Amino acid sequence: MVGEDFTPASTTRRRFMGFVAVGAMGYVAFRDGAVSLACAAGKDASSDSAGALAGDESFWSHIQQAFAVDRSVINLNNGGVNPSPRMTQDALRRHLEFSNQIPSRNLWHVLDPQIELVRQRLARQFGCDAEELAITRNTSESLEIALYGLDLEPGDEILTTDQDYPRMINTLKQREQRDGIKLVTFDIPNPPGSLAELTRAFESRVTSRTRALLVSHMTTYTGQVFPVADVCRMARAKGITTIVDGAHAFGQIVYDGGAVGADFYGTSLHKWLHAPIGTGFLYVRRDRIERHWPLMAAPDPRANDIRKFEEIGTHPSAPRLAIAEALVFQEGIGPKRKEARLRFLRDRFAKRLTQNDRVRFFTSLKPEQSCAIATIGFEGIGTAALQSHLWKKHKIYTIAIRYGKIDGLRISPNVYTTLGEIDFFCDVVEGVIRNGLPKSV
Ligand SMILES: Cc1ncc(COP(=O)(O)O)c(C=O)c1O
Repeated sequence: MVGEDFTPASTTRRRFMGFVAVGAMGYVAFRDGAVSLACAAGKDASSDSAGALAGDESFWSHIQQAFAVDRSVINLNNGGVNPSPRMTQDALRRHLEFSNQIPSRNLWHVLDPQIELVRQRLARQFGCDAEELAITRNTSESLEIALYGLDLEPGDEILTTDQDYPRMINTLKQREQRDGIKLVTFDIPNPPGSLAELTRAFESRVTSRTRALLVSHMTTYTGQVFPVADVCRMARAKGITTIVDGAHAFGQIVYDGGAVGADFYGTSLHKWLHAPIGTGFLYVRRDRIERHWPLMAAPDPRANDIRKFEEIGTHPSAPRLAIAEALVFQEGIGPKRKEARLRFLRDRFAKRLTQNDRVRFFTSLKPEQSCAIATIGFEGIGTAALQSHLWKKHKIYTIAIRYGKIDGLRISPNVYTTLGEIDFFCDVVEGVIRNGLPKSV
């Protein structure tokens, strides 16, 4: 599987110009200002309620322009992978150029040691000790370290939902074939009535053979939030290892990572933190590090050192170091403000489209159950054809999700998305609902 593919087959001019036309001069003028404004706002986070600021366009327009994204297209698939703001891209370039001068010296003796400060900054943002956090390339690598490194006996069970990420399910299927463990999956409603329902769904499937449980903090298909702290507490009381897939949660919603209480927590930083592509981390609870096998051999695989999970051979330091700029950007906006803004953007299309009785949301709009992501079905309109029409005719990029009973477009704006872009998407979709898709799609 390469990236995301969740399908079986794998306006007016005035309004449009409103969100496209930012002149070159405007870009330059806003570029540095956006960063300092974001930082100043972050310092001031206690004085302004996050909710009140969520709809303040004078604040968010500066954030929007911190990104050098292509405004001749509209990207509403920020659940896949995200762009970085200019300051992060600049750092990435700087570190890459420096690496290239004398790679063996600059990489291994100058830049690699600087990773330690990035580890500390990341750990502070997540809410754990730096000695519990390994920097990885993405959630997939983090969770494969977690899932492959567990000692399991034939017949031992690992429990997860069938809406967990396909690569993680495939990892467990491979362990089934190779080690004789048993993967137990269950379906979840879209959306569920309450978060407690999800904890109960896990608990009711625990057996005397359940050894580990994999749970998404936010699911890939609909952005459904799971009550991960409750699930981990329930599992811990029964002696079951917990592995949390936090690919979408870190940087999108506010939570204390330590208080989740997981044994393992993996995330990608190129999603909602806006760090360079190819960055992630794995949290391993301190008392689990020593006995957990690394995925790539380390000098001492039973060492009690989190760095044993980072033994991947020669790799660029640049993306890892530029995580620091992404953290400064995130802290500058203020995580609570960002979460409130993301929900505000989601509500911008959700409130409008829910007025239409041919529209069905597979994602709950309750604040505790979702944030930036919503998956929407359109009665009588083929999802793949709609996705294709949006891109081919209107240059609006979305992703079609067709999995089990879910058949819809997953829409995920981000802090650089303008209200005009969301409104244009709604205009187009409402037009299709009214008039149908053109014959040529
Ligand atoms: C829930 C979830 N887990 C894991 C992943 C894999 O992330 P990555 O490709 O960054 O490893 C994704 C990607 O979209 C995801 O949605």
